[in-house]
Amino acid sequence: MSRIVVVSNRVPVPAGNAGHAGGLAVALLGLMQRRGGLWFGWSGAVTETAGGDHAPPAFAQRGAVGYATLDLTEAEHRGYYTGYSNGVLWPMLHALPHLMVFRRQDLETYRKVNHRFADNLVPLLRDDDRIWVHDYHLMSLPGALRAQGVDNPTGFFLHVPFPGPEAVAVAPGIRGLVQDVLASDLIGFQTATDRDNFAATATELAGAMRTGDQTMEMGGREVHLGVFPAEIAASEFAATAAAQVGLEPTRLLAQSLRGQALLLGIDRLDPTKGLPERLEAFRRVISRRPARSATMLQIAAPSREDVLAYRRLRAEVDSAAGSINSEFGEPDWLPLRLLARPQSRDTIAGFMRLAKVGLVTPLRDGMNLVAKEYVAAQDPADPGVLVLSRFAGAAAQLGSALLVNPHDAEGMAEAIHRALDMPLAERQERWWASWQAIAGATPEGWGEDFLRALTPDGLERLPVA
Ligand code: G6P
Repeated sequence: MSRIVVVSNRVPVPAGNAGHAGGLAVALLGLMQRRGGLWFGWSGAVTETAGGDHAPPAFAQRGAVGYATLDLTEAEHRGYYTGYSNGVLWPMLHALPHLMVFRRQDLETYRKVNHRFADNLVPLLRDDDRIWVHDYHLMSLPGALRAQGVDNPTGFFLHVPFPGPEAVAVAPGIRGLVQDVLASDLIGFQTATDRDNFAATATELAGAMRTGDQTMEMGGREVHLGVFPAEIAASEFAATAAAQVGLEPTRLLAQSLRGQALLLGIDRLDPTKGLPERLEAFRRVISRRPARSATMLQIAAPSREDVLAYRRLRAEVDSAAGSINSEFGEPDWLPLRLLARPQSRDTIAGFMRLAKVGLVTPLRDGMNLVAKEYVAAQDPADPGVLVLSRFAGAAAQLGSALLVNPHDAEGMAEAIHRALDMPLAERQERWWASWQAIAGATPEGWGEDFLRALTPDGLERLPVA
């Protein structure tokens, strides 16, 4: 069996920066631990040392997984991660162009860091390796590897959405990045919409030609496109949620509710998550229901605080939350609890099981695994209701949730009222349909599907989406 080489910006080296594992890292960790292989990427550390951009990778072996990680210099971190990845690509890919802040220098640094990754990865490669590159931080990497003569099977998976050509074109430098992604053998997306948008963009901006539902041609090479929705370990998460009910954090939260219905939001504090819009919907809900009948808990874990839009959002969310509580609170009761501290996954699983309504209302999201986790955490005998943005990738699979437009505060408020008042039979029916959509899948299965497709045989027989 060929060795798997995963390349991602975040690398969850156990006992290293494992505390900072996003959805991507969590999804891949199990697969890599079982299969073994090499994981290459950023160490999570930022160094100030002059010449730090020439430092070689650090190695660590944990079980079957070898980790090779590079530190970023301050200038690299600022230009590549904060600047171009999160200040240009992230907002553009989520169709929020007004949040883009472009500096030409950042684009150059982005390319340089991608090339530095390639330079340091190439000497570690073996002939029979399959290379799997992840996410928007590393769009230049497939092209950089090919330029160095690497002809191993190379896959690229985009965890975030991909909008249509007109929305993509606003990001300076994007044409070259799309061409570099097209140097892959297989490009994976969360939804068929993302795949089709990418194909249209590759045709319009990068001179590629779509030759079939799942194939394109670029400079005489065939590139395959596939749809691989990211999954969670649903049964495992369900068991964790059930077990948490008796444990301290969940028990204390349950006691504090005193019979009120709990509405729950779990997000990174990110402009794509639609938090101000969600709070506005909740304000409308709470203004029309009796005091002490419902409480919202929003966990909004700070993220990417070097990016101005994120710092502004923090102030905006704090202020909106404060005004809801000052307007509708009572001396002995506040309708909203806003927590900036991240909680452990286990604790969150327990909170989800308690919640009558799960609020997952991003303006746009690649998948949103929180939506799947909320479904998995429910008690089948008395399940809560998921209120889900139709612009999350998860909506393609969870059509039995109450789907909302996050820009329509009144529409969201109506959906929340409906969820709070929904009869048991309807809740069970909707939950069961959602559970069916996620129950059989695992993150490992998702990874295996992609890797199976990344073989000459697999590329010919891509699953049709
Ligand atoms: C999203 C991205 C990931 C990223 C994660 C956390 O899920 O798709 O690539 O790792 O957010 O963001 P951060 O900037 O902290 O890595």
